[in-house]
Amino acid sequence: MTSVNLVDTYKLTHDCLVKSRSFCSPKMGSKTYLFSRVYKMHIALFCEDPFRINTLADIAHRWGFTHDRDAPFALILTKSSLKLRMLDDLKLGTVYVDFIGGAMGYRRKFGGGKRQFISKAVGLNKGITPTVLDATAGLGRDAFVLASLGCKVQMVERHPVVAALLEDGLHRAQADPDIGGWVRERMSMMHASSEEACTLSVNASSLERPSVVYLDPMFPHKKKSALVKKEMHMLQSLVGADNDADKLFVPAYALATKRVVVKRPKYAQFIAGKVPSLQIESKNTRFDVYVKAAMCQ
Ligand SMILES: C[S@@+](CC[C@H](N)C(=O)[O-])C[C@H]1O[C@@H](n2cnc3c(N)ncnc32)[C@H](O)[C@@H]1O
Repeated sequence: MTSVNLVDTYKLTHDCLVKSRSFCSPKMGSKTYLFSRVYKMHIALFCEDPFRINTLADIAHRWGFTHDRDAPFALILTKSSLKLRMLDDLKLGTVYVDFIGGAMGYRRKFGGGKRQFISKAVGLNKGITPTVLDATAGLGRDAFVLASLGCKVQMVERHPVVAALLEDGLHRAQADPDIGGWVRERMSMMHASSEEACTLSVNASSLERPSVVYLDPMFPHKKKSALVKKEMHMLQSLVGADNDADKLFVPAYALATKRVVVKRPKYAQFIAGKVPSLQIESKNTRFDVYVKAAMCQ
């Protein structure tokens, strides 16, 4: 890495703090406050742009990051974006959220629209554009595809580094002259555990519940990096396998008004051992659909 300044001066004193974060989705209406525990997270912090040191300090403070030059991962703030790098495998390059250009931009323009498997799985159809709670948002790619097709999507992500990357990408997309309008209207995010978020939302009678809860927990991949995309490999190394994914099914099913959709590798077993109402299969992926009620116009 060249021309990188190490942010050594930044020190966080808190070991653990409890923050309240607002949960507000445009469609789902009113505000609820969620309490999520944010633990001190050790990560190397680099700033490539001397004018953005304070921005990086603010990011570190908000997400509870402590600069640690020996940590396996680094967050790098460049002139334009926040990027993740794995320090013991530099050939993997960097990962960041880009909804405007790159693969997501290409997929938005040429990705097949409502013919895509994910679109069929959530029940997007002529005249039906369900509201979606993406309970395992990750880098927001699936959420962005659904939002680009008209769905209002509330994203929930529990890992602070992933959430920080997602928020950075979301802010850039919101400011973009081409897509900013609909991104601001349809996409929102919160940093929380989805079990907590779904349970609180079911009990908050003032909230409009999502038609669909979408789950794509991290599944341990059978084969290593050649087949697993670099980006997914890095994300998987950072967050690990979501071994508690089965626990998400019950609160997700309680919250959704129409269906729960679970994305899985083709070889994976059903979530929580539950047999789906229908399955939609692509080359390597399966969408298990648990229908509660028919979609209506
Ligand atoms: C495989 S990734 C999701 C990728 C995403 N669908 C995309 O298109 O970018 C899974 C993500 O879900 C998050 N996650 C897993 N369980 C969660 C939970 N209970 N609450 C919130 N986030 C969770 C993980 O931290 C991880 O970032």
